[in-house]
Amino acid sequence: MRSSAVLVAVAAALVSAQVPTYKSSLNMTIDPNTVAQQQRAVWCQAQTNTCQVLCDNNADDNDCDQATLKYDCTCASNSSAPGLQYYTQTLPTFICEQLYANCIQTNAGNQDGQRACKNNIQKLCATQNPPTAAEISSAEDQSTAAATATTKAASTHHAATTTGAQTASSAAQSTTSSGFAAATLGPAGSGAFAIAAGIMAYML
Ligand SMILES: *[C@@H]1O[C@H](CO)[C@@H](O)[C@H](O)[C@H]1NC(C)=O
Ligand SMILES: *[C@@H]1O[C@H](CO)[C@@H](O)[C@H](O)[C@H]1NC(C)=O
Repeated sequence: MRSSAVLVAVAAALVSAQVPTYKSSLNMTIDPNTVAQQQRAVWCQAQTNTCQVLCDNNADDNDCDQATLKYDCTCASNSSAPGLQYYTQTLPTFICEQLYANCIQTNAGNQDGQRACKNNIQKLCATQNPPTAAEISSAEDQSTAAATATTKAASTHHAATTTGAQTASSAAQSTTSSGFAAATLGPAGSGAFAIAAGIMAYML
C-alpha cells in the first residue's frame, strides 16, 4: 500500500517534471517574442487598466512594457501591489493562460502531460473579472453626470479607507457606460501611453 503510493508519487513527479510547477501566476514568465506584438499591446493595456481599478484609481506605480512584458503596479494607499493574480485582465493571468495553451499544444496526444498542464498551470490562472475599468474611466469622458459619480466613488474611498476597495469599486460599477478605458483618472500617465500605443498597434 505504502510503496504503491510512493510509486504513484514518483510517477506523478516524473510526468510533471516536464511541466514546471509554480507558486502562483505571479511566478510565471513567458518569452515576449513568442507573443505577437499586437497581443502584448492588448495585454499591457488591460494590465494598466486593471491595476488602476484595483488600486481605486490611485496607483503609485503603474506601467507595463510591451517589449519585455515587465510591469509595475503599486497602490498609493499601502505601497503594495494589489492581488493581480486573482483577477483576469492582468498580465499574470494572460501569461498563465498563454502558458497553459502552449502546454496543452506541446503535450498534444499526451494525456498525462495535459493533466499536468491543468494542475500545474491552469489551476493558477484567475477566472474572476476585476471591477470594470471601462465603466469607471470612460464615464469621466462621456458625461459630467458620470464624472460626478466617479468622483463620488473616489471620495467614498477617501471617506472610508478601511472598506475603500469594496466601496469604491461597487460605486464605480454603478456608473454605466462602455468603450475605451482611459487612464485619465489619477496620475497614471503611463497607462494612457500604453493605451495610445495599443491603439497604434491596431492601426499598423
Ligand atoms: C513568486 O513571485 C513572488 C512575487 O513576485 C515572489 O515574492 C516570490 O519570491 C516568487 N516565488 C518564487 C518561488 O519564485
Ligand atoms: C493595497 O491596497 C489595494 C487597494 O488600494 C488592495 O487591493 C490590496 O489588497 C492592498 N494590498 C495589501 C498588501 O494590503
